[in-house]
Parts: sequence; structure tokens; C-alpha cells
Amino acid sequence: MLEVKKLVRPELLALEPYHVPSHSGVIKLDANENTYDFPQEVLEDVFRAVDGQTFGRYPDPSAEVLRTALAEYTGVAPDRIVVGNGSDELILTLMLAFAAGGKVVIATPTFGMYAIHATIAGAEVVALPRRAGFSVDPEAVLAAAGRPGVRLVVLCSPNNPTGNTISPDVTAQILDGTGAVVLLDEAYYEFCGETAVPLLARHPHLVILRTFSKAFGLAGLRVGYMLAGEEVTGMVRRIKQPFNLNAFSQLVAARLLTWRPVFERRIREICRSRDELLAAMRRIPGVTVFPSRANFILFRTLFPAQQVYEGLLVRGVLVRLLDGPDLPGCLRVSVGQPDENAAFLQALTEVVEKRG
Ligand SMILES: Cc1ncc(COP(=O)(O)O)c(C=O)c1O
Repeated sequence: MLEVKKLVRPELLALEPYHVPSHSGVIKLDANENTYDFPQEVLEDVFRAVDGQTFGRYPDPSAEVLRTALAEYTGVAPDRIVVGNGSDELILTLMLAFAAGGKVVIATPTFGMYAIHATIAGAEVVALPRRAGFSVDPEAVLAAAGRPGVRLVVLCSPNNPTGNTISPDVTAQILDGTGAVVLLDEAYYEFCGETAVPLLARHPHLVILRTFSKAFGLAGLRVGYMLAGEEVTGMVRRIKQPFNLNAFSQLVAARLLTWRPVFERRIREICRSRDELLAAMRRIPGVTVFPSRANFILFRTLFPAQQVYEGLLVRGVLVRLLDGPDLPGCLRVSVGQPDENAAFLQALTEVVEKRG
């Protein structure tokens, strides 16, 4: 009799299949996506670029065209860039390269996939709670990073789901004090404009992770990239899947980078909407709102979070329920288009007034 459970590492048995709630006809503000469609001219340009391409050959494993475009966008040389099938894939690859068999320090609460990928890679997670207000204490990070077996430190700025940033000075302090690889996830960089990229020149153990899923609205095509020193990118190239990013996604992502002014306008609109939404949520009695420099807002109310989540869903708005020991009573709403934000605000006001 085959007993699959006996054939896998025990820690894998504790993992759950990733679940995405599906509700048709709702306003979807649960995944920090960019809810704006591409403008028609961008779509037509992308379709023109794809027209006539055949996809019978394997994609370029080094994604040269996309990396060249990214080098121009980021100011980082192409050989210090590796692209991935979403930044999720690169998180797993980095865990496999640097953390397997060792320990990973993760500043929590944060994006859940770091701990999941660490566990899959066979690394031990050392959760390091952020301070009240969610700032990162560099001394505490360095103390944790100094523990035996720590090979990787994970930071996220702006942090999902708390929305606050880590200043480049703090990142530099951490880099100066540790020999572990420091992974700084800048998935939401475009919404705050603050980056640690200049630190790459001095710190070969810094890895910056970015994605096309948020500001560029390309979550469905799964394009992420990392910026790092040559030694780190060389190591990642050794172990990554050779054809990890498909030809279609490579082509579209490179094309989108030629439309940057369009996306920059959108990003400014989203940031303006975020600030308006923050201010409006703060005016609702009993709602606590945390400041955000990303395209989402963390909040809590006086009522049980599950009740608030369901109350919003009944009114046609899907948000993310985060209630748990790290973030008691908390939910996260992504910033959508003005009509979506208005519907969310109306629903939240009703839920709070009616207590669910
Ligand atoms: C902080 C952070 N990093 C990475 C990701 C994953 O991005 P991708 O779509 O590139 O896999 C997300 C998605 O929500 C995120 O919030």
C-alpha cells in the first residue's frame, strides 16, 4: 500500500494548497493587482509585437531582450539581472540557492510566500517580529542574522501587508553588519519611488526583487526579476529552470517598458486614490487605518475581522482577511479605480454602522 505521507518531509505535510477565493461579479480588491486595463494603444502595440511570432521553439533562457530593457529601466547592468516566472519563482530559487539546510530570518508580519518557499526548500524559518508600527529594528535583524546557520535575511519594502517602507539607510546598516544574503523585496517600489538599488554597487550580498504584477498590471503573465551582484546572479543562473520565463511573457514585458509614461501616469493616479481612500477610511468611526506607501491599505475595525470580511463580500467587495496572531483583527484592501474605491468605502461604512 502506497503511503505518500511517509515519503515526504514532515514539514511539507503542514503546507496547504494555495487557495484563491473565487466570487464572480464582485469588486476584487484582495490581491494588490492593478485593476486598470491596459489602454487600447498599449494593447494594440502588444498584439502587433506578438503577431507573426511562432512559439514552437523554447524561449531564450537568458531573456536577453527583456534584461536589456530592464537594464535601461533600473540602471543595473544586464548581467546583474535574472528574470523569473513571477517573483514568486525567484523567491523559491533564492531559497534553494542560499537557504536550503540553513536558516532564513524573515521580518514579520510580511508576505506569506517567503516562509512557504523557505519550508519547501528545506530551510528553517526564524520569524523576527517588526516593532510596533511595523518598522524594522536593524539591531534586532543583525542579532537574528548572527545566529548560527542563518544564510538569508528577508525584508520587504514597501512591506506587504503593512504598507510601510524600510529606508535605504536602515537597509545599508543591515548590509554592513551581516555576511548573509539580504533579500529586499521591492514588489511595490513604483508606488513609493524609494529603492535600495544604489546600494547594489557596494554590497554584493544584496538581492532586490521586483515584479511586473503590480505597477505594470501584468500579474497574469507572471514576470518578476531580481537585481544583484554578479556572484549571486551567477549562482541563481546555475540552479534556475532553464526555460523559466515563457517567450510570450518575455516579449510582452519588454514591450510594456517602452510605454513607461502611460504606466507612470497610472501609478500617480493610484497613489492619489490611495491617499484619498486612506483619508476617507480614517473618517469612519471605529476604523483604524495604517499608513501605506503601496497600492493597498491595512486596516482594522472594532468588530471581528471575519464579520467585516463577510459583510463587505455580501455588499460585493472582496478584500483580504489577515486576522491572526501577527495582525489581530486586520484586513487589507487593494486600491482600485475611483468607482471601485467608492463602492468599498460605502460598503465599509455600512458594515461598521450595522456591525457586519
Ligand atoms: C511582496 C510581494 N512579493 C512578491 C509577490 C509576488 O509577485 P509575483 O506576481 O511577481 O510572483 C507579491 C504578490 O502579492 C508580493 O506582495
